[in-house]
Amino acid sequence: MIKFDETTNGFLLSGKNFSYAAYVNGEGCLQNLYFGKKIELEDLGYLISRGGNRASDADKIPFEYGGYGRGDYREPTIVAERKDGAAMSGFCYVSHKICDGVPEVQGLPHARSGGQTLSVTLKDYFSDILVILNYTVWEDSDVIVRNAEIVNTGKEPVTLKKAFSFCADLPEREYSVLRLYGSWAKERYPEVTKLGRGVTRIQSLRGASSHQMNPFMGILCESCTENEGECYGVQLIYSGSFAITAEVNYNGTLRLQGGINDLNFGWKLCGGERLITPQAALCFSCEGLGGMSRAYADFLRERIINPNFVYGRRPIVVNNWEATYFDFDDEKLFSLIDEAAALGIDTFVLDDGWFGKRNDDKSSLGDWFVNTDKLKGGLKPVIERCKKNGLKFGLWFEPEMISEDSDLYRAHPDWAVKKEGVEPVRGRNQLVLDLTRGEVVEYVFNAVSEILTEYEISYVKWDFNRTLTEFYSARLPADRQGEFAHRYVLGFYDLAERLTAKFPNVFFEGCAGGGGRFDAGALYYFAQIWTSDDTDGLERTKIQWGTATCYPVSGMSCHVSACPNHQTQRITPFETRGAIASLGATGYELDLTKLTEEEKQNVKEQIKAYRQIDDLVLKGDLYRLSNPFESNYFCEMLVAKDKARAYVVGERFRGDPCDYDRILKLYGLDENKTYRITELNLTASGKALLNAGVLFPRLPDCGSWIWHIEEAK
Ligand code: GLA
Repeated sequence: MIKFDETTNGFLLSGKNFSYAAYVNGEGCLQNLYFGKKIELEDLGYLISRGGNRASDADKIPFEYGGYGRGDYREPTIVAERKDGAAMSGFCYVSHKICDGVPEVQGLPHARSGGQTLSVTLKDYFSDILVILNYTVWEDSDVIVRNAEIVNTGKEPVTLKKAFSFCADLPEREYSVLRLYGSWAKERYPEVTKLGRGVTRIQSLRGASSHQMNPFMGILCESCTENEGECYGVQLIYSGSFAITAEVNYNGTLRLQGGINDLNFGWKLCGGERLITPQAALCFSCEGLGGMSRAYADFLRERIINPNFVYGRRPIVVNNWEATYFDFDDEKLFSLIDEAAALGIDTFVLDDGWFGKRNDDKSSLGDWFVNTDKLKGGLKPVIERCKKNGLKFGLWFEPEMISEDSDLYRAHPDWAVKKEGVEPVRGRNQLVLDLTRGEVVEYVFNAVSEILTEYEISYVKWDFNRTLTEFYSARLPADRQGEFAHRYVLGFYDLAERLTAKFPNVFFEGCAGGGGRFDAGALYYFAQIWTSDDTDGLERTKIQWGTATCYPVSGMSCHVSACPNHQTQRITPFETRGAIASLGATGYELDLTKLTEEEKQNVKEQIKAYRQIDDLVLKGDLYRLSNPFESNYFCEMLVAKDKARAYVVGERFRGDPCDYDRILKLYGLDENKTYRITELNLTASGKALLNAGVLFPRLPDCGSWIWHIEEAK
């Protein structure tokens, strides 16, 4: 709901539990008034007169888009350099409109539908630059989506040296910052630190959102915890090099900004051209980090992820990667397929190594035709074998890459990202295709399309195993090389858009050397993403916990793999690996033919049990009950929206002789209902389970538990 108040020139945008307010001040500048729990339109006059946010000094005004070189010495939101080298800017209000629906964001993933949008047009006092600020809210969501469109209305080109998507200036409080950092096999570990004066910046310069830092920042107010207190979130709907900054000003106020990374960036905007910046999804929660996590999960499921797949039952796959790596032939695949069918798995995914002459990671990326040395009969017999067994078939691609040892490279060496005279950095022995070039996108689109057209393929795993270097395209003029990183992402989105549109029934899963491109932009095209190459029964609790900070569990692909674990060498019970993998889009990643009879029985039971609760994975609310980074236990609970059912999964890491009296509070149940926990043969009120809690089970190292909870009638 968006309202404009003519007497104050104020805007009030309200979602489910929050309001966001801004107004045009006496000097014609758009400044922030409020972002927090709901308030009313009548309160705007009070907020303006209160003066807390009213300041005469430019460097204290809570601008909605920060200018440059005019006395506001916080970091600007935009730096637009003109022909004469001048770059100062300051923005005044020109007009606004309020429309139903979402704004058009051509070429970028974006919030899909519903809602109401406020678009405020601002003009730079000193140049021909217009900035249109878009704000979209939904009555049932605690997320507000913002972005900026930058238009050059003059004749001369302007170079944007920075063009962030939003700026939100918040009042002085005690803030902490939450970031999700990581590496390969250790993605999205949460870290909370106090926010001190100056600029705190998280970013990626890798051309992809990255394993190392996720495009998300949480801002915790005072004593915000998992279940209580106020916090904010910033999440970019973007998969490329990004930056999010939190700047605590000398007066204690906080400026939050973010968007395309301004390092290694420069965008030439000719007269009449427009740059649309990626959307940022800002969130407010007064129910702690858990509230934010649930708000983001709802937002991503309702507004970002492909509606054709988001709530549909996910295929339970077996993927041959850790079973065979590159070493397979028809017979090996047949044996995996036959076993998969016997165990109740519904999709067989053939991973890396099926194409070109690929027997290791040194060749053939780009040659998307079947390796008939390895698969003597081609793909058809493999697919036939699946069909005969009632299984669907999925296939791995790495569409954005090229090996130097490939027919594609021999034909088009210039299609790889590199700069003449500079030895390219290789990652996993491969180079990246220059997706800033239309003909390269076209080639990959056709090559992948041919395979998807020729064969019955219901699932694609889209990998991306290295990040970018030598940000340079031979096709771009010198004064546009700064556009490379963003243009690459636009090329990736174009390819993903065209392939997913052409094959609307194919389920696309994202992947990037594990979870190196796990972001809202990628989730727009890929309803689920491979969370991490680390499937160890202990490590995964941390990765999934961290990822759930701002992504829905249904977006996480989670597989049971072999022991000792290939990444950590740890041995964990089969049941534990299955239990943890059931908190997401579950599947298997091991040699099924090598399982013991008991393990096979386990798989059958896990699949049957998963199908009883997968509606909670797809549609439920997640409550994170015991933090694996802070205690000896991991525990999460999925609760149905009507709170009539819940599913609890927990793990105890070490057999500690003295922690047997610990209480686990089942936060998220309804205090006014009575519940039955099947496995404990226990009936108790929601009040008791939530406030008094239950005892953590006593289990050996890496032992796990699963509880099914139902309302007792
Ligand atoms: C990446 C993925 C793996 C597998 C390999 C294949 O590492 O994360 O799951 O697909 O590539 O090369």
